[in-house]
Amino acid sequence: MSRPSAEPVVHIDQGRIRATEWRFEPGAETGWHIHGHDYAVVPLTDGELLLEEPGGGTRTAPLVRHASYSRRAGVHHNVVNNGEKPLSFLEIEVVDDPLQGERLQTLMRFGDAWNAHDVDALMACMADDCAFHSSAGLVPEGAVHSGREAVRRAFAAIFEAFPESQWTRPQHRVAGDTGLSFWRFVGRTRDGVAIEVDGCDILHFSGALIALKDSYRKSMAAPKA
Ligand code: NI
Repeated sequence: MSRPSAEPVVHIDQGRIRATEWRFEPGAETGWHIHGHDYAVVPLTDGELLLEEPGGGTRTAPLVRHASYSRRAGVHHNVVNNGEKPLSFLEIEVVDDPLQGERLQTLMRFGDAWNAHDVDALMACMADDCAFHSSAGLVPEGAVHSGREAVRRAFAAIFEAFPESQWTRPQHRVAGDTGLSFWRFVGRTRDGVAIEVDGCDILHFSGALIALKDSYRKSMAAPKA
């Protein structure tokens, strides 16, 4: 059953400060989002939040009227009113770098597109002039795929090689024009060989889009005695 949507009411959107009141009927949710900016929350009512987090984790957190708290950019979750009464809080964001928020949204959409095996959605996150350096190859960069057509083919080849593949436990960070995404790759080759390894992407942005995805994965080889 789908949940009703929480209602955002913007009170201030001026320069570096954005203040949004979020109103939740019982059972209402914000929808999945990633915070692009550092923020403070001022509860306007008491209540109980249900927090859904990437990787399937959920937890509840009490909301206590006027007991404020702050968080750093990068928090990734869905927020649900877990109580039986309406609740509301004021979210105050510090918008230091508007591109930081857009870049984090790009990384969240990119991660979703990998898990959906959707090459078009992946390419919508890539800049016109883009490249992909995969984790294994014959040159120091791994394997180099330059230009949209080569990148598209390389992404499609991953889904071909791993018909079952998910990038779980995603975490995303952005600092300036560099991004970092951590994940655990869980997949199976066409021959049925299961693979489960941690890895990350270092990403370079052009505007809000990805100009370079540079991938790294752990190797599961046994250590030498
Ligand atoms: Ni949030």
